[in-house]
Formats: sequence, C-alpha cells, structure tokens
Amino acid sequence: MTVTKTWWKDATVYQIWPASYKDSNGDGVGDIPGIISTLDYVKDLGVDVIWLSPMFDSPQDDMGYDISNYEGIYPKYGTMNDMDNLIEETHKRGMKMILDLVINHTSSEHDWFKESRSSKTNPKRDWYIWRPPRIDENGNRQPPTNWVSHFSGSAWAYDELTGEYYMHLFAKSQPDLNWENPETREAIYKSAVKFWLDKGIDGFRIDVASMYSKTYPLVDAPITFTDREFQPCGQFFLNGPRIHEFHKEMYDKVTGNYDAMTVGEVCKGTREESLAYVSAKEKEMNMIFLFDVVQLGYGADDRYEYQGFNLVDFKKAVHDQCEFVSGTDAWSTVFIENHDQPRCITRFGNPSKKYHAKSGKLLAMLEAALTGTLFIYQGQEIGMTNIGRDWDISDYQDIDSTNYYKEFKERVGGDEQKLSKLMENLALVARDNARTPVQWDDSANGGFSTAKPWMRINDNYPEINAKSQINDPNSLLSFYKQVLKLRKAYKDLFIYGEFKVLDYENKNTFTFTKTQAGKTAYVVLNFTEEEQPFEQLADGKLDLLVTNADKLEETKLSPYEGRIYLLN
Ligand code: GLC
Ligand code: CA
Repeated sequence: MTVTKTWWKDATVYQIWPASYKDSNGDGVGDIPGIISTLDYVKDLGVDVIWLSPMFDSPQDDMGYDISNYEGIYPKYGTMNDMDNLIEETHKRGMKMILDLVINHTSSEHDWFKESRSSKTNPKRDWYIWRPPRIDENGNRQPPTNWVSHFSGSAWAYDELTGEYYMHLFAKSQPDLNWENPETREAIYKSAVKFWLDKGIDGFRIDVASMYSKTYPLVDAPITFTDREFQPCGQFFLNGPRIHEFHKEMYDKVTGNYDAMTVGEVCKGTREESLAYVSAKEKEMNMIFLFDVVQLGYGADDRYEYQGFNLVDFKKAVHDQCEFVSGTDAWSTVFIENHDQPRCITRFGNPSKKYHAKSGKLLAMLEAALTGTLFIYQGQEIGMTNIGRDWDISDYQDIDSTNYYKEFKERVGGDEQKLSKLMENLALVARDNARTPVQWDDSANGGFSTAKPWMRINDNYPEINAKSQINDPNSLLSFYKQVLKLRKAYKDLFIYGEFKVLDYENKNTFTFTKTQAGKTAYVVLNFTEEEQPFEQLADGKLDLLVTNADKLEETKLSPYEGRIYLLN
C-alpha cells in the first residue's frame, strides 16, 4: 500500500506544558508570553508543530484538563490577546499549532455543569451523567456502581442539592459529559472545537479520545482488587459502543472542514479497535497515541504497582507501535515522553553524569528512526531527568500521585516499608517527573522564573540546562537538531519506512532496519553500560549516517553507543 504524504505525517511536534515552561512575569508560573519568548529556540530545534497543553480557563485541579470555559484563557497564563499573539508568532515562523481538546469532561466550575447540578429539571441536567444513589442492605447510600476513578476513590460524587450522584472518570471536579445527548455534542463542537479552528489553530490533540461512549445500562465492574472498595472499569467506557459514531460526527461537522491535524489519546484496545479510529477511510482522526512503550513495566490496572521490564519487552513495544499501521491506510505516532509520563532518560537510558548525554543521544537516534509523526516533550531535548528519590510526598503536586498516596497509606495502614516502596515507584513513574520547571540555565530557579516556581525544580539544573548545551556542538541538544534534520532528509526511510527487528532475543542491543522502495537504513543501539559485540546482521555495505560514539570500533559497541547506517 502506498502511503499518502501530508504535512502532519512529516511533522516533528513539540509539546509545551504551560505551567512549567517559561515564566515571563515573575509569579512562579509559566505563561503565554514566556512561550512566545522561546519560539526561536523551538523553531531552531527543527520543530514544525507546537502542541500546547491546556491553557483554557480552569480551576487547575488537574492542571487545566478541568476546563471551566473553552473560550477563555487561564488568567495566570495570560489573555486572549496573548493567545492570539502566540498563534500569530508561531505561524510567522512557519510552524503550526495544535491545542488540547478535552471534551470527555469539563470542570465542575463550567457553566454547563453549574446549570446541570442546579435542579433535576434544568434543561442541562442531562448534559452530564446523573444517577440516584444505591441503598445497601444496611440502608446506607452508595454510589450507583463500584467503579474506581482514575485519580483514586469512587468514579461517582454525591451532590447534596438534588440527592443524586454524577459520574467522574477522573477527579471529582471533572464531571463526565453525556455524549448520548445530541444537544451536548453540538455545544461541545461549537465551543471547544470550532471556536478555536476559526481562530486559525491547526488541529488538536484529543484527550482520552476513546472514553466518551459509556456502556449502558451502567453496571458493577468485576472485582480485580479484593482489598479495594472501587474497581477498574475500563471495559465499560474504553472504545464503547457509540465511540466511532461520535468521532465520525465530529469529523463530518467540524474537523473535516479544515486542514486540521488530529491526534487522539487512545489508551487501551486491540489492534483492530485502535485502527478503527485512524484508518483514513473511516474519517475520524489522523493518528493516535499508543502507550505500549511509555507504559512498559506498569501494573496492568495500577501504574504504581510497577513490575519492571527488559530490552526484549522494549523491542516488542516499539515493534507493536511501529507495525500498527503497516499495510493499512492508517497513520501512527512516535513518542517516548509526555506530561503524563516519566522522563525517558531515567526510564530507558542512564541519567548518571557519565552517560547522561550519551544515552540521551541513543534515545534520540531511536526516536528519529521510527515510523509515524514524532512528538517530543519539553525538556526531552536537553535530557531532563526524573525527580530525586529523596523527594518528599509534599514536593509532589499532581492530583494522581497525591491522591494515590493518601489512599495507599490508608490501605496499608501506614506500613513504612510499603510506603517507601511506593515512594520509589513514584520517583520512577509518577506524572510529576515530567512536570518540573524547564531548566533553561544555571541561574536561580533554572532560569524558569525569577520567583520560587509553583513546583519544586529538579536539583540538577546547574548541570542539565539548555544554556550550557545550546552552543556546544557535542551536546544532547545539538544532537537532537542533527538527528531531526536527518529524519527529514531520509524521510522515506525513517518517517515512512517499514520497520524490522533483527535481534529480537538479544537483551543488550537493539538492531533494526527501516526499508522503503529498495533502500534500507540499519540502526544498532547498545542499551547497556557495558561494551557489546557489534555484528552486522544484514548483508550489504554499511555507510554511516550518524553515531554518538567518539570513534567507531569494527567489532565492538561502547556503552550506550548507537549508529545509524545506510545499507547499500
Ligand atoms: C489525559 C491527560 C491527563 C489528564 C486526563 C484527564 O490522560 O493527558 O493529563 O489528567 O486525560 O483529562
Ligand atoms: Ca507567570
């Protein structure tokens, strides 16, 4: 099957998470003028599209993924005028901009919800999902189902005023919209989608795009955790019965009328289920994020029950993500970090002084060679690392990790050993790891702000920062620029090529080819801190395109060495 090329397939996307990006006015919180001041840096990196995480008006219980007005800007981030400037300045530099589309839920502070909760007969009552309480055998009021929310506790909240519960798959302050109601859908399309496309933005990253359609009637989930009150319930809302109908309608009515890029967050599903969202002929979304790689080692129903993984698991995950669209009319993505995931250099590389730059470059080579639209997260390009194991729970800010900690502590009765294990896992996989302020230079607060940042900055900013790397031709940042260019120069191979693993069972090195129209790229990556043998696993003459090694040895790979060749 020949793949149709479009601007969004070729694009390198850079994700900006506004709170921690750059503070322009010394209040300790990143903002839109701060973003504008760094646009040349972003352009220079080789970026085509900026994905801006939510900057809409919001009480910030979930850092803007709880929106109180789709058509307004969170005042700490700036004004609508600042936003217009940001769009204009981005376009002026030849880049595009996509926003986050958070339409599974709103904030409980959104006018729609305020109306909905005001009475059972309010015309917007049915815009959210309300149910009467269930009364147990002791006559006590209970939530309508035993579902757990993503941020711990019940997925239902009781509202005194009308004596009913509303559904919230995420925080209590993030009530789920009722997508069954056509009037609600129209309002969403108009306020959250069309409003911004008409302002000239170039598309959306679509938040939890597989969750809008719930399975009715709503029933209890099976018991997965006998020691927990509320249970995982994904089977009742992931890839639900009407989800494709909803996406097709949104495409028909809105996104399809613009040259918009759409990338959906689709957390779980079979290959068939996932393909249905992105097959071009289905006209739903352009591409989705699959989580095989970033979620490696996470507990199946609980990320903090961390299991670990080896390089073979890693290869399988990369393979499944690359192969996903092979031979179809669909398109896919490449990413290894975002605002919900820990830092890749800590998870998959080696953040020690000795190997920080070298293993960061190894991961940059991997990313640059994989099939799909590439997404890079702020700070990834300079190798920002996870937070320290010594951080106290009071340093954590994310609602997911802090709620989990509270619930866990109760569950284990304050068991110190178990709590210490949890702290270890948080330092490895918590979302906070991605959310520390960007380390721009080695001045106070890493040059992020002149004031104390809203969240603790990583202690390593004097060593790891953009300023120290920007003029150093051997830095990780310079290497990112180099490989992003290379990806474009050989896009038939890297962006569009077929992926094949050559050393599946090898637990130390990762060797694969990318092929297209009789041409082949040969990639070899040593994922260990020991030397590894280098053996050529495919016939032909190897011509080096890029490496992170000082000098090449014929039969050995140095620790974390990577090479990308053309195979002629
Ligand atoms: C998505 C976002 C995450 C947010 C959640 C609820 O998973 O990426 O940050 O908390 O949806 O909107
Ligand atoms: Ca600010």
